[in-house]
Amino acid sequence: MSELNAIVDAAQTAFAQAATPADLENAKALFLGKAGRITELMKGMGALSVDEKKSRGAAINQAKQAIEAALNGRRQALADAQLELQLKAEALDVSLPGRKRGLGSLHPVSLSMERIEQIFASMGFDVADGPEIENDWYNFGALNFPEDHPARAMHDTFYVEGGYLLRTHTSSVQIRTMEQQAAPIRIICPGRVYRCDSDQTHSPMFHQVEGLVIAKDASFAELKGLIVQFLQVFFEKELKVRFRPSYFPFTEPSAEVDIMDERGRWLEVLGCGMVHPNVLTSCGIDPHEYKGFAFGLGVERFAMLRYDVNDLRLFFQNDVRFLKQFA
Ligand code: PHE
Repeated sequence: MSELNAIVDAAQTAFAQAATPADLENAKALFLGKAGRITELMKGMGALSVDEKKSRGAAINQAKQAIEAALNGRRQALADAQLELQLKAEALDVSLPGRKRGLGSLHPVSLSMERIEQIFASMGFDVADGPEIENDWYNFGALNFPEDHPARAMHDTFYVEGGYLLRTHTSSVQIRTMEQQAAPIRIICPGRVYRCDSDQTHSPMFHQVEGLVIAKDASFAELKGLIVQFLQVFFEKELKVRFRPSYFPFTEPSAEVDIMDERGRWLEVLGCGMVHPNVLTSCGIDPHEYKGFAFGLGVERFAMLRYDVNDLRLFFQNDVRFLKQFA
């Protein structure tokens, strides 16, 4: 009897020490498995008399049941502990405040672009679109840039495989439009352009809005009036505006437009001019019948002036603290 009691005690201790279900199964095998201590005792009963078998068998069975009860108790305890851990890990504090979703807003360059488009739309301009990967003809050739003319170098062009390039201005869209549409034409061409240039006021990709008017009576006077009006509306103030003679291969005469800032300094904001007869001819428009004027501006420059931003790179760093100010 005391031997059986000792085995039951040993089993209870072993089960209590089992920290995981796997440990517990290993401990069970020591007592109830094929080579376990209880099983060994059963095997030893063959040599006993009938009476001895009865009493010995009953005692072993009792011990076995006690061990099974201890085993089941420990199984349950381990399962309960496991569940407890899981519940703790998955606990939700429903009283915590929810995570708010950040509300997005338009990028200052988009805002400026939309503003520019709206103003020109109110002046009767349509919006025209074209590819950002161009060939030499649409970006330079049709715009009266002679082969090997230094003006091509001025544009710091990104060339890509197969003789293509990233457009350096959206003047290419003006050419495409003149090829496809009959005069008169009154369009703006907003879009991304690329130049190999990077500092506080230049980035390799920036946005332009260029405009083109082709009409029998298009004149420099009309161009001037339109540009001055546009600038006043965009900046919402009476501005001092100056047209300064300049050079572009595709316009003649050409001018750059400056506005005066609060400190009395002239800032260049725009290029413009009368479309060169060679450009009209390239696009199948008779320069004796039609005249044209064109202009082009950098959207980032307008956004910097309007929002008083002093570093162009801020527009492309996507710092939410910067962008939030335009919400
Ligand atoms: N295409 C010129 C540029 O990108 C701008 C421009 C457009 C100038 C139309 C004159 C007329 O610099």
